[in-house]
Amino acid sequence: MSLHDLLATVGGFTVSFCLLRLLWKCWCLYSEFILSEHWQVDLRTYGKWAVVTGATSGIGKAYAEELARRGLDVVLVSRSDLKLQRVAKEIENKFGRKTRIIQADFAEGDSIYPAIADALRDLEIGILVNNVGMMYNEHFAYFLDCGPDAAKRITQVLNCNMMSVTQMTRLVLPDMVARKTGLIINLSSITGVRPQPLLSLYSATKAFVIFFSRCLQAEYKSKGVTIQCVAPSLVSTNMTHNIKVNCCVKSASAFAREALNTVGQSSYTNGCLSHALQNVALALFLPDWLRLSTYFVKKQINSKFVEQLK
Ligand SMILES: NC(=O)c1ccc[n+]([C@@H]2O[C@H](COP(=O)([O-])OP(=O)(O)OC[C@H]3O[C@@H](n4cnc5c(N)ncnc54)[C@H](OP(=O)(O)O)[C@@H]3O)[C@@H](O)[C@H]2O)c1
Repeated sequence: MSLHDLLATVGGFTVSFCLLRLLWKCWCLYSEFILSEHWQVDLRTYGKWAVVTGATSGIGKAYAEELARRGLDVVLVSRSDLKLQRVAKEIENKFGRKTRIIQADFAEGDSIYPAIADALRDLEIGILVNNVGMMYNEHFAYFLDCGPDAAKRITQVLNCNMMSVTQMTRLVLPDMVARKTGLIINLSSITGVRPQPLLSLYSATKAFVIFFSRCLQAEYKSKGVTIQCVAPSLVSTNMTHNIKVNCCVKSASAFAREALNTVGQSSYTNGCLSHALQNVALALFLPDWLRLSTYFVKKQINSKFVEQLK
């Protein structure tokens, strides 16, 4: 074989391999976000009740409503008793499902979990949505610019974003394993997929959620329990200062509906097609070496987009 033939063969294989990979990626996106519109898992098969943390606004409230709409009774967990009662009433009236409320502040640490365990004891928990999460800063900022109470804030963020996921999972998983069915949905973020300077602590906690979820999925899928990790881009909520909805920014309700459709299709998802495409675009046009450069960090902190979020 001449050198020319050898190069042509290697080139042919490489192009075929790249084309096959592209086709496979397209098929995955198609089945995850388009086919799933019509071909959904009956979420009631996991069990009677769903538990949602951080359920009184934003993505958590949207998940709670969508789960009730799909036939589950819902346990709502958040800090404010008043907001919990209002959302519970709304769900009961709108969807005719039962609700329970648990008032808990996940920022407090491990002291809250015995009371949560007691409140969940007699319920068949089919689905847990580990949604609760908080930012370290109100908007993009350097790690040291968190304000006067940095030490306390750091502990609160770690408790809320990581401890809550692990402890809530510990509470519901044994019964799911015993029943050989269950679904745990963990809310990460696109900032957990790619390191995000100026949101450093938040970004790192969300990376924890991804690794924890993917490892658990490997451990427990053979025991009938699915652990799904959802890593969205921007959703219009209080956390994002209710930024305007557009083709890139989803409303919480549209996001929760699309993300729940992906259950059974994917255990690691951006939740909706728009965010999946943004993830691909980010990797192509804003690779880590650029986003992590001092030049880009300085550019970002002065950008109009950041001003808009303030
Ligand atoms: N919005 C986005 O663009 C976006 C993108 C990627 C990932 N995420 C993730 O999605 C999840 C939900 O975000 P979101 O935007 O919907 O947030 P959000 O609008 O700020 O809502 C947070 C919810 O959690 C509750 N909560 C906050 N702190 C709590 C605490 N310490 N203990 C108990 N409950 C608490 C709040 O209710 P109370 O005030 O009544 O307690 C509220 O119901 C988070 O994990 C976030 O990291 C969001």
